[in-house]
Amino acid sequence: GKVAVMMGGHSAEREVSLKSGQAILNALQAQGIEAVAFDPAQQPLQALLEQNIDRVFIALHGRGGEDGSMQGALQTLGLPYTGSGILGCALAMDKVRTKQIWQAMGLPVADSVSVSPQQRDQIDTQQVMADLGGRVIVKPANEGSSIGMSVANDAEQLATALDIAFQYDQQVLVERWIVGKEYTVGLLAGEALPVIRLQTPHEFYDFAAKYQANDTQYHCPAGLSAEDEQHLQQLAVAAFAGLGCRGWGRIDAMRDEQGNWYLLEANAVPGMTEKSLVPMAAKARGDSFSTLVENILAQTLE
Ligand code: DAL
Ligand code: MG
Repeated sequence: GKVAVMMGGHSAEREVSLKSGQAILNALQAQGIEAVAFDPAQQPLQALLEQNIDRVFIALHGRGGEDGSMQGALQTLGLPYTGSGILGCALAMDKVRTKQIWQAMGLPVADSVSVSPQQRDQIDTQQVMADLGGRVIVKPANEGSSIGMSVANDAEQLATALDIAFQYDQQVLVERWIVGKEYTVGLLAGEALPVIRLQTPHEFYDFAAKYQANDTQYHCPAGLSAEDEQHLQQLAVAAFAGLGCRGWGRIDAMRDEQGNWYLLEANAVPGMTEKSLVPMAAKARGDSFSTLVENILAQTLE
């Protein structure tokens, strides 16, 4: 059958998506699969039916692609697609709801408060800073690739960080800064891939560290004991399933200096660029990029 690789779209992560999509498209074509690029920012979805597409590989990141809306549209058109369904995507896109669910499941998350535009002018920024340990990271609730995120060390910086985050979203998460190490766990077909530890000289693993700089160090194996690696993998599998996610994805986490774990967020359509983490983790297990793409496609949601 013919596969459309959906890439681009309208989100702030459009450029990242085009890179992910191109890499996937190349891999599919090299496998002899009839695959075409499809940018929903340039063509109406109806064209999928006219082109006799029978499966869609979703390589869209961010809103309109990773948030359940595209998944719902494809479902309505009767087209099977890769990755999580409507609910899993919608929840994973929203960092506030993600944390509420994980908390209710007893999974570890960092202390935080969420702020709406109405609450924006009412919150006591001094108090928020004090409650969250004096240093926070501020995130738009529904964004990816660290877009709109910044660190604040006092009430004034918090006000600026909120302004920045509100440019991207109507809901903003203010989270306690975790001093420790950053990890990520790729998920495929219900199993966790080898854990990667990310080490950046930047203040955090921001957009530049993710895609532009060459100074991020990736450790895989991550340097954890076998027991700790397995523990984090179990947390990630539970966290992913708890959101209703399936197929493939990635869970980001941190561990503080006392050894406590914190789950940060879920990605329902993680990056598939040259520098991306899921391909790196798959490789560590002996799976080439091509094999990974094949495995993800095999997990198509009917
Ligand atoms: N949001 C980016 C694409 C990632 O999670 O890899
Ligand atoms: Mg993300």
